Amino acid sequence: MTQFVQRKPAYPFVIFLSRRWGWCVWLVCLLCSLNVFAGEFASQKTAATQSTVETQSTVEQTGDVELGDLEPGDVEQRDAIRRGWEVLTELPLLPGDFSQEVIDDIWRSWPPEARAKAAQASLEERQRLIYQRYGLSPRPTLRVESSETGDLVARFDLDDSVLRKGNQPNYPGPPMQYVVDEDGQWTMNCLSCHGGSVYGVPTPGAPNNRYALQTLTEEVRSTKFRLGKPLGRMELGSMVIPLGTTNGTTNAVVFGMGLMHYRDANLNVVQRTPVSFTHHDMDAPPWWHFHKRPYLYIDGFAQKGHRGLMQFTLVPENGPEFYRDNEDHFRDVFAFLSALRPPKYDGPIDGELAETGRHLFNDNCSRCHGTYGPGGDYPNQMVPIEEIGTDPVRFEALTVAGRQTYADSWFARDAKGKRQETLVDPEGYVAPPLDGVWASPPYFHNGSVPTLWHVLHPEDRPQLWRRVDESMDEERVGFKIELAEKVPLTQPDVQIRRSYFDTSRFGKSAKGHDYPNELTEPEKQAVLEYLKTL
Ligand code: HEC
Ligand code: HEC
Repeated sequence: MTQFVQRKPAYPFVIFLSRRWGWCVWLVCLLCSLNVFAGEFASQKTAATQSTVETQSTVEQTGDVELGDLEPGDVEQRDAIRRGWEVLTELPLLPGDFSQEVIDDIWRSWPPEARAKAAQASLEERQRLIYQRYGLSPRPTLRVESSETGDLVARFDLDDSVLRKGNQPNYPGPPMQYVVDEDGQWTMNCLSCHGGSVYGVPTPGAPNNRYALQTLTEEVRSTKFRLGKPLGRMELGSMVIPLGTTNGTTNAVVFGMGLMHYRDANLNVVQRTPVSFTHHDMDAPPWWHFHKRPYLYIDGFAQKGHRGLMQFTLVPENGPEFYRDNEDHFRDVFAFLSALRPPKYDGPIDGELAETGRHLFNDNCSRCHGTYGPGGDYPNQMVPIEEIGTDPVRFEALTVAGRQTYADSWFARDAKGKRQETLVDPEGYVAPPLDGVWASPPYFHNGSVPTLWHVLHPEDRPQLWRRVDESMDEERVGFKIELAEKVPLTQPDVQIRRSYFDTSRFGKSAKGHDYPNELTEPEKQAVLEYLKTL
């Protein structure tokens, strides 16, 4: 396998590993999900086509830009979007999670069947198997474009040779989900959860519904043992705290709560008695809603701001000055997130049926989910937890005290010191925008419902299901699944066991959101057709 060589960032931040167990392990673990860089550096990736525009870029060209005459404000905005992408993909904040040697050798830690397959594979094919097993994908090239409405938006190009070779996806180069530095150290980034594949097409901002964080961490651990290498924070932390029980979902919210627990309002590190948290898995929301949402998270408690994006960097060693020093990088991440838009459905759509669906949607759904197309609006509608009836564990797990800590902190103040709005005691869950909803299965905040058809048919939602391949169920719009009676506990491959989604487990209920029951069957079909157009 090739060693990925990347340039060292100009001023890497060195953050020391936490020696504390429990939450502090997580503090560190979450820090590693974030990558900050300082200064300018060149991307080694070549653009799919060369820029024809002379710009005042502060970074070297990383993508294809066809913007015509830009206003100075737009030039700044475009550069910020690019820098945000580079913050996410290029700069490791920490010593890496594991080395190239470990990831190249990891297949020897696989269960017999998978290992035998890898042993016989070519190096390239083996790399593809490794990427596939853990939900990793190649990294596309950013292109900043002007949209029809005049906004600068982020688009991505995948070199054909990267995506397909013959009929096989081909995965050379560093993955989108990890920063790989010039020494071959791999460090998890935000895209590990927020950069997935839309039915096989790597798409930054799409939830990574294949990410197998728990399995990867366990197998890195056994590989490090085998190679006689010291264990890192992830391998140690995961022995104390579950990372995620199902492929594609993670215990991410609990990580954030743990991080905040050891800080005062000015982000000074304080000693506190460890508290216990309710572990539960969530499906990451798509980032292409970011530009629409005034408040973030499923309970909409936090007003959107660049500082809030930094909470994942809370390790005890990062003092308050770290946050002030790095604020600009997160302004850039904010600009990047704001520039994302959903991919367009490219299959056939029955226009007449979709138009009927639009009317039905506007009558039955838009009071919560908003309207789409020109003049569309997003109401940011909160629905009381008893009324929505979807799984309440996430709602209960984040406490009023936890939200208050956030509300009082530096994260919830703007750069002028003005306090942002934080809903410390929200009533329930906020209806998300449905833009690009066809592209972000599974559905609901816990990822319990595999297709849009199942969202529309509450009584027919499967109890126990498993995704069978990466392609789309075009009829039901979502994952292609098979049903099961029970999780096969004798299955020797844990990765396969974790591909089963058992809705009877804690925090994994697929109940609630019965609004579609107002519709007749033909009406549901029409609404389903309309949802493809969003
Ligand atoms: C381990 C997986 C994971 C990692 C890593 C991660 N996130 Fe998230 N993120 C989530 C989950 C899950 C949610 C949903 C939380 C909720 O709604 O309560 C979320 C929510 C968000 C949201 C709110 C989106 C919305 O529409 O409400 C933003 C913005 C966000 N993350 C940004 C980031 C950034 C920036 C990073 C890196 C610094 C990051 N995330 C790293 C899992 C992750
Ligand atoms: C009273 C407000 C309300 C109404 C009416 C409503 N929804 Fe929702 N919807 C929500 C909330 C809140 C969620 C988030 C639930 C969760 O994740 O637990 C949601 C989630 C969804 C999702 C899953 C989104 C995702 O990305 O996971 C879809 C799809 C959806 N609704 C479609 C519809 C359709 C179609 C209708 C009309 C038939 C409708 N909704 C009516 C409030 C509403």
